[in-house]
Amino acid sequence: MHPAPRTLAFMFGMLLATASHAQVPALFKDAKPVDGGKLVAAHQCDACHAMKWARDGKDIYRPGQAIKNASQLQSKVEQCNAGTNANLFPEEVTDIAAWLNETYYHFKN
Ligand code: HEC
Repeated sequence: MHPAPRTLAFMFGMLLATASHAQVPALFKDAKPVDGGKLVAAHQCDACHAMKWARDGKDIYRPGQAIKNASQLQSKVEQCNAGTNANLFPEEVTDIAAWLNETYYHFKN
């Protein structure tokens, strides 16, 4: 017996869901990107970036140029944290990096 078309569609949907989840880099798998987004706003990261970069500072996020993967992204956030006395906890740095990845960089690892 062949599976009904609806069953096939369901199975395909499950496959897609699994695949997109697998695209989150291991480094960010326990992170809370929603919290990261709030921290970026609260610490006005973009206000400083906007002094030099267009689109209210958002043009600074350039995947594949200085930053090529999740761990480089995490290091850069840590560097800006240290350089600007934002005093973020390590988990917060990871939450922010995960949010930036979800929003701008889209690294898979
Ligand atoms: C006082 C200014 C200032 C503040 C505040 C600041 N940054 Fe930055 N940031 C910079 C400068 C300047 C650069 C570019 C030079 C560099 O890459 O080191 C940069 C670069 C970056 C990059 C690299 C972008 C890329 O793709 O090359 C990331 C990511 C970043 N900042 C995240 C953050 C986050 C997150 C915060 C807030 C917690 C933050 N920054 C706060 C000045 C700042």
